Amino acid sequence: MTSYHLRGASPAKTRADAVVVGAWKTAKGVTLADGADDIGSAYGRTLRPLLSTLGFTGKAGEVTRLPTGGTVASPLLVLVGLGEKPSDRAALLLAVRRAAGVAARSTANAASVALALPADDAGLVRNVLEGYLLGGYVFSRYQSKTPDKRAGTVTVLSPGARRAELTAAFADAQVVATAVQGVRDWVNTPANDLTPPLFAAEIQKAVKGTKVKATVLDEARLATLGCGGHLGVGGGSDAPPRLVELRYSPKDAVAHLALVGKGITFDSGGLSIKTATGMETMKCDMAGAATVTRATLAIAELGLPVRVTAYACLAENMVSGTSMRPGDVIAIYGGTTVEVLNTDAEGRLVLADGLGRAVEQDPDVIIDVATLTGHMMQGLGGRVGAVFGTDEVVEAVVEAGRESGEKHWPMPIPPDIVERVHGSKIADLAQHDLIRWGGGLFAAAFLREFTDRRPWAHLDIAGPGYTTGAASGHWTSGGTGFATTTLVDYARSLAGRA
Ligand code: BES
Ligand code: MN
Ligand code: ZN
Repeated sequence: MTSYHLRGASPAKTRADAVVVGAWKTAKGVTLADGADDIGSAYGRTLRPLLSTLGFTGKAGEVTRLPTGGTVASPLLVLVGLGEKPSDRAALLLAVRRAAGVAARSTANAASVALALPADDAGLVRNVLEGYLLGGYVFSRYQSKTPDKRAGTVTVLSPGARRAELTAAFADAQVVATAVQGVRDWVNTPANDLTPPLFAAEIQKAVKGTKVKATVLDEARLATLGCGGHLGVGGGSDAPPRLVELRYSPKDAVAHLALVGKGITFDSGGLSIKTATGMETMKCDMAGAATVTRATLAIAELGLPVRVTAYACLAENMVSGTSMRPGDVIAIYGGTTVEVLNTDAEGRLVLADGLGRAVEQDPDVIIDVATLTGHMMQGLGGRVGAVFGTDEVVEAVVEAGRESGEKHWPMPIPPDIVERVHGSKIADLAQHDLIRWGGGLFAAAFLREFTDRRPWAHLDIAGPGYTTGAASGHWTSGGTGFATTTLVDYARSLAGRA
């Protein structure tokens, strides 16, 4: 178990196996960042020429390690590049978050680490700790021999360490980072160990002893209720679908937030089958459900006065004699009929059931999260999510992403695409059509049909929800947990505690 401390001590006098400082890249060379305080003078005049010899420029992601030879209390000095100093606040927070993530991977085997990064206000403190915890994330469940590389003691140094606002931010950061790590664990767990019934059981285990209540609707109950999206998509799998409903109802709630998450535990495409390559990462297709679940737990643990009703829509999209076929008509919860033309556009079908259930609870606002379309991944790449919906909620989501460096890009739902959703010749709605263009927009337009025109946002995280590349900053390979911090910060904004 690692212990975390926030201290006001001098970095040069703090004894740890490694002390981490930040460095800005400037036209004139490297400048030590706020927080490094007395390190530069204690190390002495050899520091600058040494950094130059090492070719260290302070570029973001760059790192160099120097033995201190007794000049400062810690035997090892770790310098992490922050890049060029930005003028806007969000970019500064992100630079610090990234550097803290790099620091976590650059202090392997240090039993104790002191972080002397810029941390003189609550937002910075939060980003130092969250960045460190997320950058140091490892998924070792299936590795028989992984050395535990986590430091036992992590100390964040801050001149404001005794201020209540900072200690609160420090405590909250641990809750939020734990939530993101929990999402990553679930997303990284292979689909054979996380079928819908197994995932539902995991969620039940996670809510035990918390202020969140979970109800699992099994396939029989889903049939009684008429959740045709879940039954249709999950019909081809030997592992039946589940809808997990979560409730957090604090007495002092000032708002009611409904969250709906796509939980396709594996997406083969169904009969509209994917290519083998297209399937390689499709254990990630439950990231939305993992995100709404862990965000709900974090909101409850933080004790935010926001009522949350969340829906984890779980099904496995497989191929068999009982699979849903292209051309089938299914009825979504509430009775709307849908002509299914591509069984690989399955996420919107389970989400439609979840949205229908959510609307019945009369929430003030609904947010759904889904690895929904390759189209949005094509358009926005691997680090930016798409956000659709009503203007106020879209703006609030974009804003909520700022403090933790999550970028959500607003996308439109144009009328011609809405018409296409209404273009089925035999059912109320078309799930898909033969026009490829704007597929992510079509999906959003389809979902909106189930929101009762309430304040709503749809987060398509197909790109940023999962990375196959190497770790970078606070992002690690595999599940990223993207959108989790945004949801928690959005709930904070509803609670008036942004
Ligand atoms: N789960 C996929 C979307 C996806 C793709 C997520 C890549 C993460 C990475 C989704 O169910 C899907 O297959 N979407 C189709 C929709 C199409 C059939 C309209 C797609 O993106 O091609
Ligand atoms: Mn699909
Ligand atoms: Zn999918």
